[in-house]
Amino acid sequence: MKTLLELITIEMEAAFEKAGYDRDLAKVTLSNRPDLCEYQCNGAMAGAKKYKKAPFMIAEDVSAQMKDCRCFESVDVVKPGFINLKLSPDYVAAYLNDMAADERLGVDVEEHPRTIIIDYGGPNVAKPLHVGHLRSAIIGESVKRIVRFKGNKVIGDIHLGDWGYQMGLIITELKKRKPELPYFDENFKGEYPEEAPFTIGELEEIYPTASAYAKEHEDYREEALHATYLLQNGDRGCRAVWKHIMAVSVADLKKNYEKLNVHFDLWKGESDAQKFIPDMVQMLKDKGFARYDKGALVVDVQEESDNKEVPPCMILKSDGAALYDTTDLATLVDREEEFHPDQVIYVVDKRQELHFIQVFRCAKKTGIVRPETDLEFLGFGTMNGKDGKPFKTREGGVMRLENLIREIEDEMYKKIMDNRTVEESEARKTAQIVGLAAIKYGDLSNQASKDYIFDVDRFTSFEGNTGPYILYTIVRIKSILGKYEEMGGDLSDLKILPPQGEYEKALMLQVLKYNDVINTVYEETAPHKLCAYIYDLANEFNKFYHETKILAEEDQTRRSGYISLLVLAKKVLESCIDLLGFEAPERM
Ligand code: ARG
Repeated sequence: MKTLLELITIEMEAAFEKAGYDRDLAKVTLSNRPDLCEYQCNGAMAGAKKYKKAPFMIAEDVSAQMKDCRCFESVDVVKPGFINLKLSPDYVAAYLNDMAADERLGVDVEEHPRTIIIDYGGPNVAKPLHVGHLRSAIIGESVKRIVRFKGNKVIGDIHLGDWGYQMGLIITELKKRKPELPYFDENFKGEYPEEAPFTIGELEEIYPTASAYAKEHEDYREEALHATYLLQNGDRGCRAVWKHIMAVSVADLKKNYEKLNVHFDLWKGESDAQKFIPDMVQMLKDKGFARYDKGALVVDVQEESDNKEVPPCMILKSDGAALYDTTDLATLVDREEEFHPDQVIYVVDKRQELHFIQVFRCAKKTGIVRPETDLEFLGFGTMNGKDGKPFKTREGGVMRLENLIREIEDEMYKKIMDNRTVEESEARKTAQIVGLAAIKYGDLSNQASKDYIFDVDRFTSFEGNTGPYILYTIVRIKSILGKYEEMGGDLSDLKILPPQGEYEKALMLQVLKYNDVINTVYEETAPHKLCAYIYDLANEFNKFYHETKILAEEDQTRRSGYISLLVLAKKVLESCIDLLGFEAPERM
């Protein structure tokens, strides 16, 4: 279905052409003076030079061609040459009814769907999830849903950090604590136990202990590095411990991401890329892309137009070890072989930008990806506490994600209980649903690249630009629809009527922007614009609600018209929050 902007642009183009002007001038935008009009066209100003004519005259000529266009209630020409448009009530209602009849609510799928991989989450195995991983999960999940909704083939890959020094540390610490385990007996040839020699709780304690100890004790550090080396070179015992670490850790991660309503299609990690490294390195050498620099193998990626130094991509350290760059390049080799993606989007902390510039350039230059493959870095800013510094616990430590979620849920629980519309038994469940929306909306409503302040009080408020406010609005609509049915109303027999009042029309204009907004959000990979949209929509709905007797409306056709509009508004809101990665409760 064409968006409203597209439809009125077509009308405008025809009018420009009929009046003898270039149709390319006919760009229509939302009005930036909503007090004067709903949409506007500034093309007459742009054309003044070309036609050596006053913009006002051009605008007059164009508007004369639009006199009997059924879409507009008014076409006004305002000095110096704005064409101000107001949609006709009939046209608005017809468009909304078309939207309501379409199961995708008027959003078209891509004509040429692409294969898109989204690399997000990126937790490090055996380390507890902390708030730093929250943003990647939240933004990545929303981006995944948005691009998938537009009909692309989308693969979300968690890309676990499962191959580094942290593994060597855990192996070393385990050996120190339980030297009798068969993994550490070189002569052991039997089957290793199936059960892991630790629980997730122990694992999460082992890692920080080992990491701190290694900083103080050089020989221990050496041992951990050696264990890392053994693991990476196929030592049987180390491999077996690693598998246990993976199994225990991944089970815990799955549980945590599930709670966040974040779902990955692929659970691959850095370890999966390792087998692609030898051939890739060989290719880089054979084709002359790589050179040795002080013993290390590197690929130059500096470009002439750079006004800053971009250091070479590091392929192998002088001791032959692979690095972060190497793993990301080899992961692209793997992805290219398996999926042949048109685009790969990395949702990672913006402080890693340089790393990705290097990797992208190297992958393009060396043919690891095709020239037309779109590699996109979606770097996000830091989540700060109220003091403006990176978010910490009250004691100043790294905040674990679980605790952060619990804090929000407790706060939501209190507010929901104060509201007294929900039984205590239901309130916990509701607090979880609303709490998640509070966290996600609080994050997504900011432009991803910006830092933001995580403010529990503000995020959990039922008023203002917050997740709970959006959900509250949806719940309010659900409650009206529920009452309508109790009164004997039929929700399957719906028809939206031309608006009569100002608030009703304002709400309608907001609803019918939906597909235009989705397209923008998709093209710009900008979930924050979706948040801005539903906030405006919720505001328009609440204004309408306060000004209008909906259920008390005596004219039955009118009442059912209002209800039809509410049903559509609710569908739009629900679709948007689904794309943001959360949902609404029945009551709150
Ligand atoms: N595990 C990394 C970290 O915690 C993030 C991984 C990002 N993705 C990637 N393909 N490098 O910093």
